[in-house]
Amino acid sequence: MSRKIWVFDTTLRDGEQVPGAKLNIYEKLEVAQQLKKLQVDIIEAGFPASSEGDFQAVKQIAQQVGSSSNMMITALARAVKTDIDSVYNAVKYAENPMIHMVLGTSDIHVEKKFSKSKDQILQIGVDAVKYAKSLMPQVQYSTEDASRSDFEYLWKTIEAVIDAGATMINVPDTVGWAVPEQFGDMIYKLNDRIKNVNPDVLLSVHCHNDLGMATANTLQAVKNGADKVECTINGIGERAGNAALEEVVMALSTRGDYFDAFTSINKKEIINTSKIVSSLMGLDVQVNKAITGDNAFAHSSGIHQDGLLKSRDAYEIIHPTEVGLDDMELVLTARSGRHAVRNAICNLSIDINEKQFEDVFTDFLELADAKKEVYDHDLFILVEDYLRRHDKMANFEKHADAFYVLEDIQVISNPIFPSATIKVSKGKESFRASTVGTGPIDALYTALKEVIDVDMNIMEYKISSVTRGKEALGKVKIQVQSHDKTYIAKATHTDVIRASAEAYINAANSIIVEQFVPTEV
Ligand code: KIV
Ligand code: ZN
Repeated sequence: MSRKIWVFDTTLRDGEQVPGAKLNIYEKLEVAQQLKKLQVDIIEAGFPASSEGDFQAVKQIAQQVGSSSNMMITALARAVKTDIDSVYNAVKYAENPMIHMVLGTSDIHVEKKFSKSKDQILQIGVDAVKYAKSLMPQVQYSTEDASRSDFEYLWKTIEAVIDAGATMINVPDTVGWAVPEQFGDMIYKLNDRIKNVNPDVLLSVHCHNDLGMATANTLQAVKNGADKVECTINGIGERAGNAALEEVVMALSTRGDYFDAFTSINKKEIINTSKIVSSLMGLDVQVNKAITGDNAFAHSSGIHQDGLLKSRDAYEIIHPTEVGLDDMELVLTARSGRHAVRNAICNLSIDINEKQFEDVFTDFLELADAKKEVYDHDLFILVEDYLRRHDKMANFEKHADAFYVLEDIQVISNPIFPSATIKVSKGKESFRASTVGTGPIDALYTALKEVIDVDMNIMEYKISSVTRGKEALGKVKIQVQSHDKTYIAKATHTDVIRASAEAYINAANSIIVEQFVPTEV
């Protein structure tokens, strides 16, 4: 029978250890509320003994997020009384609180970090569990650096802390040392022994990604009996990070046939959660990151687009809507083949014959080379321009004049009056605006908003370089919202101000284009 796997999210503790990713209390609350929507089973909200600020944040999360929910709230303590008291006093407000403590078991930790004997460390752990247990029924014990520990000493420790009252045993691969097969064997043996001692004790794993194997090790542990996985959103965390929650959850769900296990995660909240964590922590998600990267569901090669249009399962194992994204994204680029371009033109109900299409396709390749990504409104403009040049417009419904085109732009960046002047055209009409703003991009977008008659709000603005050196091509991506629908638009240029303006215009035109696209019934 399929097993439920508990998901323990440590974005607010291990994830927050990333340099520069520190959140204030309001931001932590926002992340915690989102993790609740995501339906994680346990939130590790922080390390209360580390600072008064962290203590208050954990306490507020327990009070505001954990008090009306069955979701567990925990926080980290070292195996010392003062740390355990801090955790207790912060998490006790939650409906379902837990104390999590950590103490090393590897020779390196015991001898070099603590300069104590193994027996002394074991006794410290047992006493700490007994003390925590006197405060609250749920206690998790983490055997830090477990994967580099002597197995029989690791087991001796686990047996003793279970006897002292630990309800969850967490086996961390603290330095990302483990390899899947070996780690899986270790988890299999531990699980077998633990369940013989007390079948109610949950066995958990916490894997780091130093060798890029955190997700693989976590999944191998599940395959070998682990009941619980510790993860972070987008895989953030100490050094190379932790196992990414979205990868583990989607692997278990997509390959349920193999793992025979499931989680209670609300998968439709995965992308939302990733975006919130990335923007609040200021940590960009790698574009090709599994599940949450910008390109994770974008198909651009001609061969793939052709295959997908014939049958989606040819190149798609997860439907993007499963994780909360819009439907499949076929990005038209210079690599897109005829099939994808023909299909996009057809979806816009533009009726051209095969001979005309061949000519338009040549124009398309030229445009794609210059513009990098081609949008639906570009196709309208492309086709109509071609037909106009060939005097074939007479029987053709005209749309290209409905789209905005950037004519000219001047932006002045200075500390007192950052200002922008723009000229935009739409068919035969021409518009100008000059505005000041809080910065050059604010001035530019205020000017564009003044002349572009499309109701939209910018939700996200991102700029990155796509080539190296000082002539780097800058890529701007904006996400806008219009009448409850989200649109993503991009533009690439050596002049990042121009790319910013073109991204804005691409977004506006994507909204306009919808008027001309027949709605599906
Ligand atoms: O990596 C680690 O060992 C940890 C423990 C606190 C679980 O983060
Ligand atoms: Zn860790």
